[in-house]
Amino acid sequence: MEIKRLRLGGILLPSNVFMAPLAGYTCYPFRMLAYELGAGLCFTEMSSANGLKYADRATRRLLHTTAEEPVRAVQLLGGDPAVMTRMACSELLKDFDIIDINMGCPVPNVFKSGEGSALMADQKRAAAIIRGCRKSGKIITVKCRTGIREEHMFAAEFVRMCEDAGADLVTVHGRSRSMMYDGACCYEEIAQAKAAVSIPVIANGGIFSAKAAEEMMERTGADGVMIARYALENPFIFSELTRKPIRKTTLQILLEQMELTAADYDETFTIRYIQKLASYGMKKRKGTKRYKEQMFQCGSLEELREIVVQIFSGEAEGEYGT
Ligand SMILES: Cc1cc2nc3c(=O)[nH]c(=O)nc-3n(C[C@H](O)[C@H](O)[C@H](O)COP(=O)(O)O)c2cc1C
Repeated sequence: MEIKRLRLGGILLPSNVFMAPLAGYTCYPFRMLAYELGAGLCFTEMSSANGLKYADRATRRLLHTTAEEPVRAVQLLGGDPAVMTRMACSELLKDFDIIDINMGCPVPNVFKSGEGSALMADQKRAAAIIRGCRKSGKIITVKCRTGIREEHMFAAEFVRMCEDAGADLVTVHGRSRSMMYDGACCYEEIAQAKAAVSIPVIANGGIFSAKAAEEMMERTGADGVMIARYALENPFIFSELTRKPIRKTTLQILLEQMELTAADYDETFTIRYIQKLASYGMKKRKGTKRYKEQMFQCGSLEELREIVVQIFSGEAEGEYGT
């Protein structure tokens, strides 16, 4: 695919290959890894605007970043324009350059509360949220789907509304809410969304190889791609697509992730995160049940470190998890 730098306001993104927001995964260490490997933009996992006001330990963990992070983007989830505006403008988000608004989450509880993908069914409220968040003076991006139901997709109309309300970029996940995370992505819907606006449109959904990223770009004409689950399985997808030379093994990456996480987060979080990441790293292998069981029984970081070394020693550079 054609790799290009994208300009968003005063920020020049390193590439047009984005890392998707992923609840439970896109913590600061993982975002730093994705940037190192060539990602052009990474996001925090979704943070509920209603929940942020409590500013508790979990919130601080979600919002953790440092000046070292190349571009700092937070994703907000919420359905009330007043609450979203207040949060977007709040001191809590002072370190972030970009606010992404979640208009795609399909989870029943979120949908029932009028948040996430429910905003696609209420474009007036969605527009009010975008206009409100713009008051923060930050760059505003939106992540949406192709619609609510598979039989009625309207990505172009929705993306046009986002542009009119002041969004700087939109990512379209090529599935409707009813499709959740399965089924073929609708390239045509993303292509129509891209053709309908002049702001950058990023295509997301079902990219599980470099070839699939290529096909997504060709069939949609999008300005870039966003990768979610496959980046957990194989973070080297970023260096492969951007042709950034990286000489690291899976083991090195996992140990670095462990160290970076342990420096900023508590041991329970670090253990859980590394267990999940290492499991994804073993996805392509056969006969890993025993390893996974061992890993998930670990009670300390020391123990986990030993098992990770045992499992991932001997892998070649740039061959994640093979
Ligand atoms: C475990 C998991 C967590 C997710 N968390 C978020 C999130 O916090 N915010 C969001 O906008 N999308 C979230 N998504 C959706 C992804 O960003 C992405 O749109 C979706 O997985 C499709 O991309 P893929 O086919 O490349 O995985 C999540 C998906 C998964 C599987």
